[in-house]
Amino acid sequence: MTVNVGVVGCGRVSRTAHYDAINRHADLALRAVCDIDRSRADEWALKNNTRAFYALEDMLAEEPIDVVSICVPNRLHPRIGIAAANAGKHVLCEKPLGLRLDEVDALIEACDRNNVKLFNILQNRYNRTNQLLKQAIAQGRFGQIFQIIITLRWRRDIGYYLEDDRWRSRRDLSGGVFTNQAVHYVDMMQWLAGAPAETAYAKMATCVHPVDVETHGAAVLRFRNGIIGSFNLTNLNYPEDREGSVMVLGSHGTVRIGGKSMNVVEEWSFADSRPEDAEIAQANTAPPTVYGFGHVEVYDQIARALVHGDRTVDLPDGREGRKSVELLQALYESDRLGREMRLPLD
Ligand SMILES: NC(=O)c1ccc[n+]([C@@H]2O[C@H](COP(=O)([O-])OP(=O)(O)OC[C@H]3O[C@@H](n4cnc5c(N)ncnc54)[C@H](O)[C@@H]3O)[C@@H](O)[C@H]2O)c1
Repeated sequence: MTVNVGVVGCGRVSRTAHYDAINRHADLALRAVCDIDRSRADEWALKNNTRAFYALEDMLAEEPIDVVSICVPNRLHPRIGIAAANAGKHVLCEKPLGLRLDEVDALIEACDRNNVKLFNILQNRYNRTNQLLKQAIAQGRFGQIFQIIITLRWRRDIGYYLEDDRWRSRRDLSGGVFTNQAVHYVDMMQWLAGAPAETAYAKMATCVHPVDVETHGAAVLRFRNGIIGSFNLTNLNYPEDREGSVMVLGSHGTVRIGGKSMNVVEEWSFADSRPEDAEIAQANTAPPTVYGFGHVEVYDQIARALVHGDRTVDLPDGREGRKSVELLQALYESDRLGREMRLPLD
């Protein structure tokens, strides 16, 4: 059996991370691409030797698609996903699942109702460094974890916001550094903390660029198991992308995974020692972009789940992807209202 994938949105992320991951996989076929920008759809269909469509409905009607891969601006994810689910297609959605909880809940409900799967791409989870960190937490090596500290210092110049009809500069379509860059880090925080958050507080601001999304800010989460998580995030770091790091502090261990996108082990200190500690540096990677290499793993897991019925796949599903949307919504509300928010949100 081959899984036929239709990619919606022929922009930056599809060309950087999706087409190759699909084309190289023996169990997957890139059956069609779709973009409302006809020249983009034509260009990438030609390059991938597949069909171009300019409307999702036409692609769904004319091609036997199994999985719709959603690579359009953030706010549009639920709407496209619901249309795909209603046509009986599985949904693979780029990060974030959406910008608003009510819209994300409608997407999850549509996928449940149509008995199709919903997966969210949060590919940083598959960095070998982060897999080892998660494993060390599961093994109890940290003792009592009391703090998780995340820092993101990247740089996005004005051209980044002006491209592609300016959607990345718009609060209603994109969100700023918290959503558009740091959703991976928000997910990482809650994935590592391993408990729901109970409070959220944030301060965000915009400067340097005339955009209506936040360019920098700080935030604090408190988790039900007592862990305090903090974020310092910016898209204005001079002179370039320098750091995407997570630090986990426990009574018997400290780990810092840094590099530009959580791909280099910078500290690995534990009270106990294990044979794998000697080889920890081999987990480091130097990916060409901050996207990392995780999309290959994502598509491999899609194939394992859908072709081989493998129940061990651990792709974040809709409910897992929803968690970072809820945390982000709480952080934006906190900044807007100037007070701490309690979770879960009503
Ligand atoms: N996982 C990651 O690390 C990662 C990295 C970059 C981007 N992304 C996500 O991928 C998504 C796309 O980002 P991008 O940078 O590729 O954007 P982009 O602007 O480069 O590409 C989006 C494309 O979608 C098309 N489009 C818009 N509305 C459409 C519709 N209704 N139907 C069909 N096509 C439509 C646009 O014409 C454009 O070509 C965003 O959600 C972004 O957050 C994820």
